[in-house]
Amino acid sequence: MINYTEKIPNNVDLGRDRVLQRALEHWQPAYMGWWYDMGPDESHNYEVYLRTAISVEPDGWAQFGYVKMPDYRWGIFLQPRDEKREVNFGAHKGQPAWQEVPGEYRSILRRIIVTQGDTEPASVEQQRMLGASCPSMYDLRNIFQVNVEEGRHLWAMVYLLHRYFGRDGREEAESLLARRSGDTDNPRILGAFNEPTPDWLAFYMFTFFTDRDGKFQLCALAESGFDPLSRTCRFMLTEEAHHMFVGETGVSRIIQRTCEVMKEHKLDDPSDVRALGVIDLQTIQKYLNFHYSVTLDLYGSDVSSNAANYFTSGLKGRFRETKLEDDHVLSEAEYPVFEVVSGKILAKNVPALTALNERLRDDYIEEIADGVARWQRAIDNAGIPFRLTLPHKGFHREIGNFAGHFISPEGEVLSEEAWKKRESQWLPTPEDHAFVQSLMSGRVVEPGKFANWIAPPARGVNNQPLNFEYVRFN
Ligand SMILES: [Fe+2]
Ligand SMILES: [Fe+2]
Repeated sequence: MINYTEKIPNNVDLGRDRVLQRALEHWQPAYMGWWYDMGPDESHNYEVYLRTAISVEPDGWAQFGYVKMPDYRWGIFLQPRDEKREVNFGAHKGQPAWQEVPGEYRSILRRIIVTQGDTEPASVEQQRMLGASCPSMYDLRNIFQVNVEEGRHLWAMVYLLHRYFGRDGREEAESLLARRSGDTDNPRILGAFNEPTPDWLAFYMFTFFTDRDGKFQLCALAESGFDPLSRTCRFMLTEEAHHMFVGETGVSRIIQRTCEVMKEHKLDDPSDVRALGVIDLQTIQKYLNFHYSVTLDLYGSDVSSNAANYFTSGLKGRFRETKLEDDHVLSEAEYPVFEVVSGKILAKNVPALTALNERLRDDYIEEIADGVARWQRAIDNAGIPFRLTLPHKGFHREIGNFAGHFISPEGEVLSEEAWKKRESQWLPTPEDHAFVQSLMSGRVVEPGKFANWIAPPARGVNNQPLNFEYVRFN
């Protein structure tokens, strides 16, 4: 069970380690300062119907109730320890899992934790203005739930930094509160986390595409031979599932509403669709292209000696590592990556160890494709002849083998000029953003009401009705 009587709720027996407890209690006010400055705008007095974990068991999410977000019980929750757990891959395969940081891997492990930790507050910063344009109280509550959980994910990483990395860890924990998404002088570490999330379509796309990158990174880290990292990531994954649910159903509800309007009025021209105050499918496709491509970059270079080191060191595994049937060492195996060679995209086999970023990206793409197929069903069911497609993985990339090349969504290699000429057909233009924002000029917060551009969800939160008062504004 989680101990909520302490200042910092935890299931790691924090009270037994006074030095650590004091260090974290010192970080806590700085965190609260960050939340007041960078958490959801104007929300501090709202009472929000949030879930709080009461234990790390799968049914530990039982507790729902009204909470003012600054009073949310952020804390440190790790999956229970399995005494028999081993390092399951790489050069140390078969050794008992590490309970302390192996000295030789200290700096790379710290880097991995900081990079993961940095994404958590970043997305809260990216989303902080969206409350002012929410399409319903239900959606407002959901974004707040996502935000407080991203805050808790930051706590999860900061605990590891404080507990296992001494002074450098404490300094890194402070820097996590100092960087700002999109800041020119002190930006967040990864590109996608410095992009603005200007509207709710972008928010749902972000939680579908980019939070799912979070899931795959956490899955790879949950395999880590460094057991405290594995255990903390396992619990974070239960929270991440909700974020992806918000994204997938959010986009799906927008598509559903658009299709309803198209069908009812027998429209197919996007400008006619827009005139009725819903988002045309072409614009949804452009947002999809954008969020998919910037998220693919988060996996890093197709061929990477860092990725090989992380694996061989036993620090970061593959997706579902222990379910894979191979030697888990990969000294002989190969894996295909793509390259652009004289205007053609060619596959080339490279040592599998160096292609682990690409492999994780491919696992991600597979899951994304299933989600997009579910969106497509909503369009097909309405009998509308429109296909949502995932662009080629080389489209609009800035990292890896495709960087510097101009690939169309269909996977043709183009000249820069030819690509730029068609860019406005593929990616959202300033006019597209302005249109989407014009639909979201104010918030819809009457219980049970939904903005015109989105369908209501199939059901409410925790079996509550759709017209439940999910947020009390006071
Ligand atoms: Fe997260
Ligand atoms: Fe998330």
